[in-house]
Amino acid sequence: MRVLAAAVLVVLILAGCGGTGAAESSLTPQNEELTEQGETLYQANCARCHGTDLRGTSQGPSMLSEVYVPGHHADAAFLIAVQRGSAQHHWRFGDMPAVEGLSTDDVGAIVAFVRETQRIQGFEPYPP
Ligand code: HEC
Repeated sequence: MRVLAAAVLVVLILAGCGGTGAAESSLTPQNEELTEQGETLYQANCARCHGTDLRGTSQGPSMLSEVYVPGHHADAAFLIAVQRGSAQHHWRFGDMPAVEGLSTDDVGAIVAFVRETQRIQGFEPYPP
């Protein structure tokens, strides 16, 4: 009986460790230098549609919308959107074209900037 209890405990501990590790995201370091670099890249490549303040334009949606919470649109969604574009599905702005000339690290910096701004300013309801 005692052996069984110990075995169950070990399994629970192992499961606990594995669970949290896998959920962590690698693209969102809270690093000030990276965030600043991301802001520069964002303003040059994304702001004309998503807005200089991230709140959207007539060409694209607000990045502060609840629909872009990390749980719904993970960091990988940013890389895919930049590399392949994104067909219209959440809004009525049309399709997002792929954005040329950005490396994976560049997109990681943009994600750091967007996540930091989301954390500081909070989210707008979706649908607006
Ligand atoms: C020409 C306008 C335009 C530019 C430039 C643009 N986007 Fe978008 N983006 C859009 C539109 C429009 C959508 C919404 C598509 C929908 O869901 O209807 C979108 C959606 C997205 C999404 C959500 C994709 C998904 O999986 O739903 C992400 C992430 C994103 N953009 C990131 C970026 C980043 C980062 C940049 C800059 C590197 C950028 N966008 C530049 C227009 C643009």
